[in-house]
Amino acid sequence: MTTYKNKYRIPDGYSTTRLIIRSLLFLRRNSVRAISLNMDKFGDAYSAIFPGDKLIIVTQDLGFIQHVLRDNHTNYRKSEFTTAKVGRLFGKGLLFSNGDYWLRQRRLIQPGFHTRKLQELYKLMTETIEGAMAEWPTGNEIDVYPLIYQLAFDVILRSLFDIDLKPAKKKEMSLLFNQMQDFVVKDVNRPLRQLFYRITRQDKINLKRSERMRDIIREIIRQRRQDKREYADLLDMLLSARYEDTGEAMSEDQIIDEVLVLLLAGHETTANTLSWMLSLLADQPAVTDRLKAIAESTHIYDSVRNDYINAVINEAMRLRPAAFMTDRVAITDDHYGPWTFPKGTVVLSFFYGLHRHEDHWQHADIFLPERWLDDAGKLRKMFAFFPFGAGPRLCIGNNFAMAEMCFFTHAFFRRYNISSTGHVPNMLPLITLRPDKIFISMSPV
Ligand code: HEM
Repeated sequence: MTTYKNKYRIPDGYSTTRLIIRSLLFLRRNSVRAISLNMDKFGDAYSAIFPGDKLIIVTQDLGFIQHVLRDNHTNYRKSEFTTAKVGRLFGKGLLFSNGDYWLRQRRLIQPGFHTRKLQELYKLMTETIEGAMAEWPTGNEIDVYPLIYQLAFDVILRSLFDIDLKPAKKKEMSLLFNQMQDFVVKDVNRPLRQLFYRITRQDKINLKRSERMRDIIREIIRQRRQDKREYADLLDMLLSARYEDTGEAMSEDQIIDEVLVLLLAGHETTANTLSWMLSLLADQPAVTDRLKAIAESTHIYDSVRNDYINAVINEAMRLRPAAFMTDRVAITDDHYGPWTFPKGTVVLSFFYGLHRHEDHWQHADIFLPERWLDDAGKLRKMFAFFPFGAGPRLCIGNNFAMAEMCFFTHAFFRRYNISSTGHVPNMLPLITLRPDKIFISMSPV
């Protein structure tokens, strides 16, 4: 701490010794709660110096977050800690790359996510959602998280590959994916267990799973190249994209990397948001009645532009942002407001705290979809709101996710009544903000 304090003006916070004592005392404490308490103590930014003299600044200050993610983004890259660990199994697609390689890939893939292009996927998405929901159980205590998690996986899988995947193959993909994801979550959250993972060969087992997953995707790509039918799925978009400078397509391995990233980034975040949304709605009969009335009187495709449905989803993402925090590393020394800090500093943007900040939100802790609507009931833009990040690395799938979540909400409230069981779900802030279980009471309309 003193070395940094002598040369830089870093926010107050924790020295390495204090951190070690705290981590011994609070092993496995909920990080969202811990960070929120630290914000109460230190203000909207604090520092922590990890062993090895690693400086981390955590902030929920709107200007600081905009500085890092948007205004001075060229001075920041994603931290290697998460990207290297996750990238080892899930490849080096958009989410895990940096610098020129990332920019080239982003430019190549971005057009595939424009709203007009996405409309070609609406049919696939709504069919998958309605098909999955038709099989759902009803009852007094249904844990909706696993149901929604599987549904979100099916939606992204079908949007990537508009083919009749054999049920056994789909099951294998889903299982491999979940196993790899569970391992990565443990690996990122418990880095001290490295040796244990090596001894128990979990490392190798998961690398093998990743290879198997890549082989399955490779086989699908090769079959597609021989297929004469026209497709409008995401795989078709990846196969037909051409680099501006060379006019060439991506290599097979690059396509597999991007497919894996879209599968990974494109389902757990959506599943978490929708599950949190239902838990927030379970004791809001006035809101669910309004959603039911909308679902009964409109076509499912119109839900994407429905202001009230969008307001409800936004409010759920405000209170329970699936991406509750994101990390960046300063490439050169930088400063913001009163702070100066050296290159290599990791800056964590804490969206969860920003979304509940009383400077920006009235009755910040209350679920209030109406806050998103102006007097005429039109959806408003809010500025301290970054569920999809900000700047050039803004979520590429944000329109896809919003469409999927609107379709889900429409289809769900057309089919089901819900009410609260009194169960309060636990937040599991792992890589994303997951609920442990979401028990709600569900009955057919
Ligand atoms: C509610 C759902 C979603 C949420 C909350 C969410 C959130 C985010 C956030 C916050 C980022 C930026 C991370 C950072 O700045 O470090 C991001 C990036 C990304 N998201 Fe999403 N996302 C969602 C759904 C999706 C979907 C459905 C897809 C794909 C179909 C997707 C694909 C991606 C990709 C590829 C990136 C990396 C973009 C880049 O670095 O250029 N996301 N997402």
